[in-house]
Amino acid sequence: MPYKMMIPGPVSVEENVLREMGSPVRAHHGAEWLAIYKETIDLLKLVFKTRSDVHILIGSGSAGLDAAIGSLTAPGEKVIVGKNGFFGERLCEICREYGLNIVTVDSPLGEPLDPAAFAETFDHHPDAAALIMVHLETATAIVNPLSEIALEANKRRVPVIVDAVSSLGGVPLEFDEWKIDICVSASQKCLGAPPGLATVAISQLAWEVMDAKPQRNHGWYLNLQTWRRFAEEWAEWHPYPVTMATNNILALRAGLRSLLADGIEKRIQHYTQLALRLRDGVRKLGLQPFTPDDQLAPVATAIYGPTGVPTGEIVHYLFDEHDIMISGGLGESLKDRVFRVGHMGKMINEEDIDAVLDGLAQFLSSRGL
Ligand SMILES: Cc1ncc(COP(=O)(O)O)c(C=O)c1O
Repeated sequence: MPYKMMIPGPVSVEENVLREMGSPVRAHHGAEWLAIYKETIDLLKLVFKTRSDVHILIGSGSAGLDAAIGSLTAPGEKVIVGKNGFFGERLCEICREYGLNIVTVDSPLGEPLDPAAFAETFDHHPDAAALIMVHLETATAIVNPLSEIALEANKRRVPVIVDAVSSLGGVPLEFDEWKIDICVSASQKCLGAPPGLATVAISQLAWEVMDAKPQRNHGWYLNLQTWRRFAEEWAEWHPYPVTMATNNILALRAGLRSLLADGIEKRIQHYTQLALRLRDGVRKLGLQPFTPDDQLAPVATAIYGPTGVPTGEIVHYLFDEHDIMISGGLGESLKDRVFRVGHMGKMINEEDIDAVLDGLAQFLSSRGL
C-alpha cells in the first residue's frame, strides 16, 4: 500500500479480507455457497442486533438508502427528514426524486439533531409516513441521538429509516431494542470490507407498511419486496434476485468475523481511545476539534484548520509529505474550514494517530504557525 488510509471510509482491510477478494470466483448458488451466504447474513444480524430480516444488496450504501426510502413510501407522502449535514441533505435528495413531501428537522451545523424538535414536528405533522435520518453524519463526525429520536417516532407508530453507513459496527446501535424499521449500512466502513455491498435490516412493521402500499411504482431492483420474494421463493438455492457478488460477500464475512471476534464494544472502546488521543494531540498543536469531547464520534474526527489556511492544503501536505490520506471538509460551508480523520477499522492504531499529529506539527511549522 503506497499510503495510509485515514479517511472516514472506505477503510484499509485486513490481509485475510483482501485475500477473499482475490480468491477463485464461485457459483452464486448451490449448497456450499448458500452456507457461506447464510453465515454472512447471521453475522450481520449480530452486528445490527436484530432478529429481523437482513438483505445484502449489490451496490454502495446509497443503493440501500434509495431502496429503503423508495420501498417504504409512495409518491406524495409526507416524510420527516433530519438534516444536519451533507448526508442528511443527500437523504432529502433521494426523497425529492421519489416525489415525497419533505419536512426537514434541521439543527445548526456542528450540533446533533434534537429529539424535542422531532417530537414537535411529529405533533404538527401527524400524517408523516416515515422518519428518515442519518445516525453518524460523516460530513461533520456528529453522532445524532438515534435512540431518543426513534422513540418519538415509535410513540406515534411512524416507521424509522436510518442511514447507518458510517456507524454500524463502530457506534452503539441496537436495531431491535431501539425499534428501527429499516437500517442501511455498507461494507466499506466499520464492517471492514471493500466497497460494493449495502446491508439492510428490515423490521416486521416495515414489511407490513410496504405490503399495505402496492401502488408505489418505483421499479424492481431497488425494491426491497423483490429481495424478500427471492429470499423466500429461492431460499434453498439462490436467495436473492440477481447474481450475488460472491467475492465481496466472502470479504464481508471475513470482516464481520473479525469484528465479532474482537467484540463490537471492544472495538468502539478502542476507536474512542484513538479519538481522544487525536483530540488531545491537535489541541496541543493549537487546533480545535469541531465538536466537544463529550460528543465525540468514535470512528472519525473533524478538526478546524488554522485561521486563514484552507484545510485542503493540510490534506495535500499529509499525503505528499507523509503518505497519509485524510479528508477535507464535506459540503460548501465546511469545505476548507475543517479536515477529517478516520480512525475506524482494524488497521488503525495509536502509531497512526501519532503519525497524523507529527505531520500536522510539521505542516504548522512549515507555515510558521
Ligand atoms: C452517512 C453516510 N451516508 C451515506 C453515504 C454514501 O454511501 P456510499 O458512498 O456507500 O453510497 C456515506 C458515505 O460516506 C455516509 O458516510
